[in-house]
Amino acid sequence: MAQQSLHSTEFGQGEKIIVLLHGFPESKDVWRRLTPLLQEDFRVLCPDLPGAGNSPFEGAQLSVEDMARALADTLQDKGIHQPIVLAGHSMGGYVALAFADLFPEMLAGLSLVHSSCHSDSEEKILNRRKSIRLLEKGGKEVFVREMIPNLFGAAAKEKAPDLIQEQIKRGMDMPVQSMIRFYEAMIARPDRCRVLEQAPFPVQIIAGKEDNLIPVKESMAQARLPNRSFVSALAAGHMGMLETPQQVADDLRQFARYCFETA
Ligand code: MLT
Repeated sequence: MAQQSLHSTEFGQGEKIIVLLHGFPESKDVWRRLTPLLQEDFRVLCPDLPGAGNSPFEGAQLSVEDMARALADTLQDKGIHQPIVLAGHSMGGYVALAFADLFPEMLAGLSLVHSSCHSDSEEKILNRRKSIRLLEKGGKEVFVREMIPNLFGAAAKEKAPDLIQEQIKRGMDMPVQSMIRFYEAMIARPDRCRVLEQAPFPVQIIAGKEDNLIPVKESMAQARLPNRSFVSALAAGHMGMLETPQQVADDLRQFARYCFETA
């Protein structure tokens, strides 16, 4: 893939940099409730992954490693050479793990937000292939309307239906070709639990007790892999940064402070 700097928005300033990578089917906007809570303490960078939001991508194929390299190029273009704290939501976490594998020296800390170091199971791959066929047949709206509500926990469904509707609208903004490329990238990604086991930097695992995609039990098991890990189990589904933003910001702030102090 020809590397291209990722479009990103920035909040706050200073030498302590947190990069937030969105998941699927999302853009950098998914961090909108979190960034106001972090920008006083850190410079916060929210990129759009290739083919999402305002980052264009015309290629036929994309891998999580391509996306990790695009992030490395983006940091270089911005003159950022010091280790950062990198947080990734779900698919963004798969990219963050690839980045940690390729550029460990660039990390002061790695935070997996509702994400996993495992590769896709056979069942997951079959389901993704089914979704790709639906998308190819023009079923984007059906796909998005089915998928998004399932990402939220009971409290959001009951008290914040607007949040879910808004996320459906934002999910619809992603072009079908990008959705398919992201799914192919997720199918092809390898298991990266070794990256957690060998991490020279601290690792944070943020899980949702009602997450239907990444079971909280799986997250708790992965929190035992690194030498130094921070762990939180939120009263939320798969979208903690929208469902319980204050809690996620507090946890991330505490983790990042530790990372920068000990880097
Ligand atoms: C995400 O939330 O980024 C994706 O749904 C993750 C996945 O499908 O594995």
